[in-house]
Parts: sequence; structure tokens; C-alpha cells
Amino acid sequence: MMYKKFLDLGLQPLANKYLTKKDLIKKKERLYHLEVGFDENTKLVSILKNISAEKMFDNKYPYRSSLSKTMLNSFKKLAQKVNKTFNPNFIIEIGSNDGSFIKNFDKKKIIGVEPCTNMANITKNMGYKTYSNFWNIKLAKKIKLKVKSIDMVYAANTISHIKNLDSVFNSINHILSDKGILIIEDPSLLECFKIVSYDQFYNEHIYIFSLLSMKSLLKKYKLEVFNIEKLSTHGGSLRYYIKKDSNNKFRINKKVKEQLNQEIKFGLNKFLTYIKFSKNVDNSRKKLRAIFSKLKKHNKKIIGYGSAAKVCTILSLCNIKSETLDYFFDTTPNKVGKYMPGSHIYVKKYIKPLTNEADYVFLGAWNFKKEIFNKERKFIKRGGKFITHVPFPKII
Ligand code: TMP
Repeated sequence: MMYKKFLDLGLQPLANKYLTKKDLIKKKERLYHLEVGFDENTKLVSILKNISAEKMFDNKYPYRSSLSKTMLNSFKKLAQKVNKTFNPNFIIEIGSNDGSFIKNFDKKKIIGVEPCTNMANITKNMGYKTYSNFWNIKLAKKIKLKVKSIDMVYAANTISHIKNLDSVFNSINHILSDKGILIIEDPSLLECFKIVSYDQFYNEHIYIFSLLSMKSLLKKYKLEVFNIEKLSTHGGSLRYYIKKDSNNKFRINKKVKEQLNQEIKFGLNKFLTYIKFSKNVDNSRKKLRAIFSKLKKHNKKIIGYGSAAKVCTILSLCNIKSETLDYFFDTTPNKVGKYMPGSHIYVKKYIKPLTNEADYVFLGAWNFKKEIFNKERKFIKRGGKFITHVPFPKII
């Protein structure tokens, strides 16, 4: 792959490495230069630095998908659809996190693969067979010896986190039956570019896929996208329904062509579009900084809401620290009481809807705006203000 660099997001920490007070004193945090490139041949977009997966996905991984109603609903709806449409015999979920998807299935019909041991232990305790491993050919071979026919593989917000795509797809091909289906969902590059959500880029998000890049990638492994769905999750995602080339059971849905046309019309096949995006990011950064500076000049109290991994990119790029944001509210047990990577802003346990904690609230988890605004409707009704950076920095 020959990546042409188009975006420089400066020095960034590992987005899920929350710090204790002791860590802060020891000053042992490491920063990595976050740059993003575009491969004109495959249309793949990737960050340029390779950080070891073992460093990022360990036994202290804090992110839990089950803490959001939006994610739970999305997984439940998909499970119902999968059972109705494909009625699979046996499913493997790669990156099963804390079980939000697999818990919708019979324990005899699904297994999880999850390298973060603390997360894998959650689904093991729920009674689901879970391999606490990284997804690779060794594991695929081991599983295939035990389960004969696997006709569905599912991976949500996981493939974009794995550097070695050869290993990913060769292992899937090894395990998936010829009539089997692979479903992948990940943030959509088109949506990211449309709303300038540059925070989709952080050290764990090695790739941000478009249908263009997914299609050209899959060709190499004799796999093909036969349908897609646009999702609102994670700020705009694409769900890809994929089959083996040799499987003629499914027609290619017209939505595939429509999405490809939209991506080409937007210019995702041209490097110039990537340069434009980089300029949009710079403007977004300047505007957000200007909003914060103005509010702080008027001594306004600002806090953050939802310490998402994405937020790290914004705070580091815009150089926002605890002088600006007093703390972040978050519901995640493994984040509260700790300090955010990079900015070192304190994470406070969210207990109840906002009252008068601050003059302004920075919406870190902007991708859950609907869910959060619904929860905080009283605060909003009383005139409480939020700050967001998408689709452009503003106060709402
Ligand atoms: P994500 O965008 O990577 O899923 O992260 C969202 C973060 O926001 C996660 O740390 C949980 C947190 N969160 C809240 O604190 N309150 C909420 O109501 C929601 C939906 C998320």
C-alpha cells in the first residue's frame, strides 16, 4: 500500500488509556504522531503509524457498548433481522466486547472472540463461549476443528481496528462456509468527511472504510458486498453484507451501486478531496478553539459530556485541557475517577440528569446526541447550552 499523507493530527495518546493519579505523577504517558493517508490504488484510508495491538487492547479496556441504549437497540434489531432473513446455524462475533450483540442469541448458536480479557470475562460469565484472543488464522483453525459449519461471521467496529487485513480476511475465509455471510459494520468515510468528524481518527481506528475501499479490498479475497445499510451509530456507519464470490444465492442490491455513486460524486476516489478535508479540519479546529476562548474570557464554566475515545483527538488537536473543561461526565465504570489520556481532564461519574453543573456542556459523545438530549431535556428546557464540533463548531 502506498499511502499519501493528507492529514496531520499532531501528537496523540492512546485513546482508551485512562490515567490514575499515580500515573499522572509518574508522567509515564506516551504520545504518538497521528497522521492519516490515502492509497490511490485501493482507495483505503489509514493512519500511518503502527502501534502494537497488545498495547491498545489489554485487560483494562474501558469501552463497553452495552452502556448505550442506541447501541443495544441497534444490535437487537440486527439480531432479529439476521434470524428472520438468514436464519444462521452458527455465528462467530469478532470483537464481542461486553456481549451487546451475542446476548440476543441462543448460547449454543454463537461464540465470541475478544482480545480484551476483562471484556471476554463478561461474556464468559454470561455463559457464552468466548475466545479471549486476537482474531487470526491460528484461532480460526482452532475454532473450525470444534465447530463444523459456520455460516455467519459478524464484526462491528472491529475490523477498522486491525492492522493486518490479509490475516483478517484469510481467517474469515477459512472459517466461513461457502454459503455463509460476513457482516461488517464500521464508521463510514463519506459521513466522516461530510460532517468533518475528524475525531473518527484516533490510534485504535487504523482504517476508516468507504464502500469503495471495502469493495476493492474484498476482491483480493474473493469476497463481495451484496448489500449495505446506512447506520446512525458511531456518527454514521456502513453495514456491509458480504458473500463469497462463488455464492450466487444473493443478488447485488441496488443500494450498493447507489452508495458507490454517492462516494464517487463526493470525490472519495480523488486525492484532492482529502486535501480539502484536511483544510476543513483546520477550520473546524480554529472555530472550536475560538468558541472556548470566548466563553473562558467571560468566565463561563464548561464541562464535558461523554468521554468517548474520539474526544481525545479533538482535545489534543485543539489543545484543550482542564483549564478550559473542568471535568467530563461519563457512565463507564473503568473511566470514572481517572484522567483522560492526553488532556488529563478528570472523569466524573454521571449519576443523574444535569441541573446547573455548568454554563456550557461540551458534547464529547456527539454520536449519541439524540439519546443524550432526550436524557437532558429538562436542562435544555431551562436554557442549558451544549457545544458541539459537528458538522461545524457551534453552541446549541
Ligand atoms: P463512543 O462514542 O466511543 O461509543 O463513546 C461514548 C462515551 O460516552 C462512552 O464513554 C460512554 C459515554 N456516554 C455517557 O457518558 N452517557 C451517555 O448517555 C452515553 C450515550 C454515552
